[in-house]
Amino acid sequence: MKLFDVYPINDITIVKAKGSYVWDQEGQQYLDLYGGHAVISIGHTHPHYVKRITEQLNKVGFYSNSVRMPLQEELADKLGKVSGRPDYQLFLCNSGAEANENALKLASFHNGRKKIIAFSKSFHGRTSLAVAVTDNPAIQAPVNKTDNVIFLPFNDETALEACFKAQGKDISSVIVEGIQGVGGINEASATFLQKISQLCKEYGAVFIADSVQCGYGRSGKFFSHDYAGVDADIYTMAKGMGNGFPVAGIIIAPHLQPKYGMLGTTFGGNHLACAAALAVLEVIEQENLLKNAAETGSYLMEELKKISGLQNVRGKGLMIGFDIPEKWKDLRKNLLFQQQVFTGEAKPNVIRLLPSLALRKKDADEFIIALEEEIHAFSRAAKSVK
Ligand SMILES: Cc1ncc(COP(=O)(O)O)c(C=O)c1O
Repeated sequence: MKLFDVYPINDITIVKAKGSYVWDQEGQQYLDLYGGHAVISIGHTHPHYVKRITEQLNKVGFYSNSVRMPLQEELADKLGKVSGRPDYQLFLCNSGAEANENALKLASFHNGRKKIIAFSKSFHGRTSLAVAVTDNPAIQAPVNKTDNVIFLPFNDETALEACFKAQGKDISSVIVEGIQGVGGINEASATFLQKISQLCKEYGAVFIADSVQCGYGRSGKFFSHDYAGVDADIYTMAKGMGNGFPVAGIIIAPHLQPKYGMLGTTFGGNHLACAAALAVLEVIEQENLLKNAAETGSYLMEELKKISGLQNVRGKGLMIGFDIPEKWKDLRKNLLFQQQVFTGEAKPNVIRLLPSLALRKKDADEFIIALEEEIHAFSRAAKSVK
């Protein structure tokens, strides 16, 4: 049987990983500033993480949500503390799209309404409602098209206000990334998030903070939306939550009431997933990784700003983007194959950095040297053509 060919891949086979580094089958070492798409939060194969999952696997790996699972309660308790939302309620699932799907559905159950506001350049996942609120018609199948989604320009408070004024009583929810990831590292302004919060309260709509990529400490605060000093009604999370183990969840404000059967999943919140998620939170706390993300991120951003030719260096913590000129369009590929550094991209010309939250200053320095070398190589090549 062949694989269903949907991913354009790099011809590299990773066989080993540790901290912010991975190795291929020839023993070649790579610096990982991509984290497998923002997933590696505490670092590859962290010893505490490996130990906790291994020990759990030797006890019980899985049972369904039909029995008591103290590990889920332990996770909810810890997540409440670390996220600063101890009075919220946790529902566990398996992926970012599923988290958003559940959030949008729960909002609609809550207020009985159908319309959702989403924003230009958003990405919320590939399942039915999640892809319907994603601003990319190319990945929406005909069956995903719906009249229930209103797309507004990102960071446009006037358009948001006008929309609520016109159809506020029909709006079920507003879904927004604190920092757009796939869209190219675009920060929601504090006033924009505050306006969403205020209008949702005023009109009885649900404020959904998609924190799948920008959450879990990546921005230097637990949720990037926290920079605006707002409380969303639902936060969705996935990627960094399990450091690679598939686990996701939504946390839900106290005024949203559960009902049996309202949401559900077979795999969500199983023993192994909880062990992975708990290990991640324990390491985040023990190693003070939010502080590290904020400090190493600021340092890296300052160093990037010194490099001439890189434009619009932006982001928060260890979620960083910058634009590159068209003539450097091979930069990401060259970083990978000439310098052995993984980075991310966003079309058409953005490089995205999404490393482990435990990235050290020396790893950041190594990246800056590699980047400068590749940029010099472009200049040398341009001169030799002349
Ligand atoms: C902001 C955001 N939301 C949702 C998703 C979907 O997550 P998953 O791929 O786990 O379904 C992603 C994935 O990149 C994302 O960046």
